[in-house]
Formats: sequence, structure tokens, C-alpha cells
Amino acid sequence: MDQQDNVRHFINLPDIPAETLKGIIKHAHALKAEKFNPPQILEGLSLAMVFDKRSTRTRMSFEIAMKQLGGHTIVMNMDEMQLTGAESLEDTGAVLSRYVDAIMIRMSDHALMEELSTHTSIPVINGMTNNSHPCQIMADILTIEEKLDDIQGLKIAWFGDYNNVCKTFEQAAPIWDFDLAISTPPDLQPKKTGDNVTYFEDAKEAVKDADVIVTDTWVSMGQEGKQIEKFMPYQVNADLMALAKGHTIFMHCMPIHQNEEVTPTVLKSPACVIYDEAENRLHAQKAILAWCLAESGVNLLKPIGF
Ligand code: CP
Ligand code: NVA
Repeated sequence: MDQQDNVRHFINLPDIPAETLKGIIKHAHALKAEKFNPPQILEGLSLAMVFDKRSTRTRMSFEIAMKQLGGHTIVMNMDEMQLTGAESLEDTGAVLSRYVDAIMIRMSDHALMEELSTHTSIPVINGMTNNSHPCQIMADILTIEEKLDDIQGLKIAWFGDYNNVCKTFEQAAPIWDFDLAISTPPDLQPKKTGDNVTYFEDAKEAVKDADVIVTDTWVSMGQEGKQIEKFMPYQVNADLMALAKGHTIFMHCMPIHQNEEVTPTVLKSPACVIYDEAENRLHAQKAILAWCLAESGVNLLKPIGF
């Protein structure tokens, strides 16, 4: 078994110190400022990218992130790997650790991703599970800071499904100290709310004083065939946006299902920042890759100063 004590994974936001996460975001801002002349800090390093579900943004942005910083990538669909047959997570983790310097993996089963990380001597980065999507939330925080400056004390209002992206916002709220209002059908009400997280059955109550309005598909990958009628009161439309503040921004991790979770009017409005948000996946992930690799003992070409 090749596991090393000093390897730094990026799987669960709460497992990483708050100051470290804030440092990664700071580095992401700097890397975005250098986007036309990116430092070649990952020269010669390789990232394996593995997917058990579809992806446009995660796949493209990780691939470009590595290449912009001088590294290489190899992509595999999980159903083409021996892992989907009989090969163990232990052997898969040990072998990949001999080929590449990091693994980014989209794996539905969160516990299996965590288990895989115990069998690698290289960082494992969570490219989304059924429970969480931390790379998306890092890009979202970068976007909110760009648009509204300090995220601390802001009110972020989430509408629709209580899903992997929402649950990662929940984890982020106490770390960055923003207020998260979650508005979902009552049967999806979070079991536990805390200092930074409040539940609202009524979307009109949740939207009051929101700085950021955010939603996601009502039917996450793997949930096809689900009934969506109960989500209609949580649609982000012009009426809901009108109840927010003048500067309120609209965010969505994409892909979008128009006229379900959000209407075209909102998407065409100046409040909509979804393409900046999608671009920021790239810059946030460059900083995540740099942190994972530097802190796991890889000598990056240029010191990055965490
Ligand atoms: N937001 C997001 O993760 O998009 P993809 O599924 O296209 O990667
Ligand atoms: N909640 C969505 C996010 C897609 C990026 C899903 O899991 O399909």
C-alpha cells in the first residue's frame, strides 16, 4: 500500500483548514489575473481524470487548467476501467499513483471516493459525488468575491432541490461566514440547520435581502424520471428576482434546464453571472491543483507560497 501521511486530498471542504481554503481562493484570483501568461508551475506533472457521469465544465476546465500551467492530462470513463469490472480500489489507487501526480475523479459514491483516497500516494480531487461538489463551490466563491467583494456576511439564497451542490454550500457557509437561506419543498428540508444556515418553505421569505440567488437542476444526474411539479414554487423567475436587492446576482453551476429551475428572463438579465462562474472553474481548479501538489510534497517549478 502506497498511502503517505503528507498527501493532501481535496474531497471534503470541512477537512481542510478555513485559512487554507481562503488561501487557495486568493491564489485563484492571482492566477486569473495572470490568465494570458500563466505561470508554468505544473510543468511535467500529470493529472488522471476519471468520470462515472457526464461532464462538460469539469472535464474541460481541469484539462485546460493542467495545460495552462504546463502539465498533462489523461481522461478515462470509469466504465472503461478495470475498476468497473473486478479490480479493487486498492490496486487502482496504487497503480495510478505510479503513473500520474494527481487524480481528479467524478464518482457518484462519496464513500468509495474517500476509500480510494486511502489507497493513493497522490492527491485525489473530488470532481463531484452524489453528496458534494467542492470544486464548484470554490469557483462560486471566487465569482462572488469578484462581483460583490467580501463574501463574509452576505446572504446567499438557494432555491429548488436539496442536492450535492446545495450541501456543499452548507459546508462552505460557516467556513466563509456567509448566511445561507435554503428554500426547498418541505419534504427536502435539511435535517439540521445551524448558525449560518436557515430553512424557508416559502421562497418569497428566503429571497428577502439576498445578495446572491442560486439554483441548480431539479433532476441531478442519476435521478432521471423524478417528478418535478413540487419544485415549481421554487423556480427562479423575474417575480422572485424582483424581491431581492438591486445588486443581487444570479448563479447556477450549469447545465441549465430553462423554464424549470430558472426562466430565460433571469438568464438574460444583467444579474446573471453564469458564464463568469463557469470560467472561474478553471482558475479555482488551477489553485486547487497547485495546493494539492505543493502540500503533498511535489516540488513545483515555482514556489507558490501557501
Ligand atoms: N457544473 C459542472 O460540474 O458541470 P459539468 O457537469 O458539465 O462538469
Ligand atoms: N446537481 C447536479 C450538478 C451537475 C453539475 C448533478 O449532480 O447532476
